Amino acid sequence: MNRPYIFCHMMTSIDGKIMGNYMRTPEGNAAGSVFYDIAFGKKPYYRHQGWLSGRVTTDDNFTFYKKPKLDENAPAVPDGDYAAEKTGMYYVSVDPSGKLGWTNNKLTYVDTTAHVIEVLTGKAGNAYKAFLRNLGISYIIAGEEQLDYERAVEKLKELFGIETLMLGGGGVLNWSFIQAGLCDELSLVIAAAADGSDETPALFSTRGGFTQDKAVSFRLRDAQIKDGGSVWLRYLIDNAEKGE
Ligand SMILES: NC(=O)c1ccc[n+]([C@@H]2O[C@H](COP(=O)([O-])OP(=O)(O)OC[C@H]3O[C@@H](n4cnc5c(N)ncnc54)[C@H](OP(=O)(O)O)[C@@H]3O)[C@@H](O)[C@H]2O)c1
Repeated sequence: MNRPYIFCHMMTSIDGKIMGNYMRTPEGNAAGSVFYDIAFGKKPYYRHQGWLSGRVTTDDNFTFYKKPKLDENAPAVPDGDYAAEKTGMYYVSVDPSGKLGWTNNKLTYVDTTAHVIEVLTGKAGNAYKAFLRNLGISYIIAGEEQLDYERAVEKLKELFGIETLMLGGGGVLNWSFIQAGLCDELSLVIAAAADGSDETPALFSTRGGFTQDKAVSFRLRDAQIKDGGSVWLRYLIDNAEKGE
């Protein structure tokens, strides 16, 4: 299969949480900078061309649960995918039924600017696709009822030239890709902090019924001590189906 190299890059607390009060401690802040610099800093380690997030992560960080302004009478859009722009960095959001209320086709994460690509399924209607086109937001369609992961990542390579893709959370999306054998590597920054909350999401999750709790093994490749007592661990994932 002709897909990008996919690495999952995440920051967690000592107890494996991807959100929470621990992030506001000095150790959490230090780990946050380590996390950013590895992927997006002056000398990025992976040199990826895009990062992929779940719908909830996008709503939490960029679209803030706004409802999209839809015109139910919009003229029918052409069938298939829509590549509005080719650039060097893409933010790709899985949004199967078209819920995200974008207002712009670009976003800025710290000092990284990216063009937005939506990954839709057949559940997203004409009005939502017309809304994306009006904003100049690219989209690909991968699957009818269920997300077709393989098709999604193949299209990201074919249509946008993404050779290396960061899988950037949350836990539901991460586990979906790992269970599908579509994640080659895990890059994990663990902050030297925890808050013990039982309400925050973890690094991987079967929530939503997209996946099962089938165990996966990881092969440690490297371990480094970083700022604020954080550690950077790199694992290869044993069930990954290799891209070309
Ligand atoms: N610490 C870090 O490094 C880090 C990184 C990223 C995110 N986060 C945090 O993680 C939290 C969100 O994580 P989360 O696990 O709750 O949610 P998530 O993975 O961001 O999003 C889950 C949603 O994405 C869609 N989705 C995911 N997998 C799918 C699949 N296999 N098939 C179809 N749709 C799929 C579904 O959208 P629909 O509901 O629309 O169907 C699903 O409800 C946020 O608070 C975010 O800020 C932390």
